[in-house]
Amino acid sequence: MQIIRTITELQRRRRDISAAARVAFVPTMGALHAGHGRLVQLARQAAGPDGCVIASIFVNPKQFGPGEDFASYPRPFAEDARLLRQWRADILFAPTEREMYPEAAAPANSSPDPAGYRDPLGDVLEGKIRPGHFRGVCAVVARLLALVQPNVLILGQKDYQQQLILRRMIREMNFPVDVLTAPTIREPDGLAMSSRNRRLTPRERPAAAVVYRALCQAKDEILNGRREVKHLIEEMTGSISAAGLEVQYALPCHADTLAEFAGVVNDRCVLLVAARLGATRLIDNVVVPRE
Ligand code: PAF
Repeated sequence: MQIIRTITELQRRRRDISAAARVAFVPTMGALHAGHGRLVQLARQAAGPDGCVIASIFVNPKQFGPGEDFASYPRPFAEDARLLRQWRADILFAPTEREMYPEAAAPANSSPDPAGYRDPLGDVLEGKIRPGHFRGVCAVVARLLALVQPNVLILGQKDYQQQLILRRMIREMNFPVDVLTAPTIREPDGLAMSSRNRRLTPRERPAAAVVYRALCQAKDEILNGRREVKHLIEEMTGSISAAGLEVQYALPCHADTLAEFAGVVNDRCVLLVAARLGATRLIDNVVVPRE
């Protein structure tokens, strides 16, 4: 696996990849775990034996709000590179902040962000709690797509809202790339794998599994015909709070539009939860098919 630090080198390497080869891309912020392993595995399949799998590691400052964990976000680079090699990525692009955002060093407004994509879905749920977060995600992913020029982009279902927004940005900005969303990989007790889980203390860790249990319970209720939104919200919030977590949201939304249901769930839905457990924020989701 080749490690590339600069845009110039990435562009040079990208030109050397045959036009016939499929390039699959996995953007990450590092602190990799088995969930990322699944994304790289999917990328490997999508690229095929003669294709190229490119992963990136960049902790993107634009998607962190003031007071969020940008400075303390884990950055175990050597271990991440080892895992990517083991998962058979071909290229790791790991730029510096200055390389990705050279304009940050220039006078204000001298270099407006060409990728100022703003999706209305970016202001609800995660976007409401983390204002500007999805603008930052879109800004970095648009730049990465322009540089890497992949045929296929691999995203994780764990960040459900993110993958919906990025899919829409890609459509509206006409990036010629297919998007694959990989299922969430879970610990044996159901906790969705996440780079931030390493912050959970040994006392907190068992309680974290309640999020997935509550999602599964709500899914079963819907499939068994209990579809009242109020009931589902109360059930999920009640069981997650009872385990000592602070619920930020726990609700069913339309799986394609994230619109809230009026009264009853009457279409394909995604159950979404965000909750705080000590210093750690957990998000998770489960999709419930329309019967
Ligand atoms: O999901 C993530 O890890 C990040 O939001 C992404 C897509 C790599 C953009 O920084």
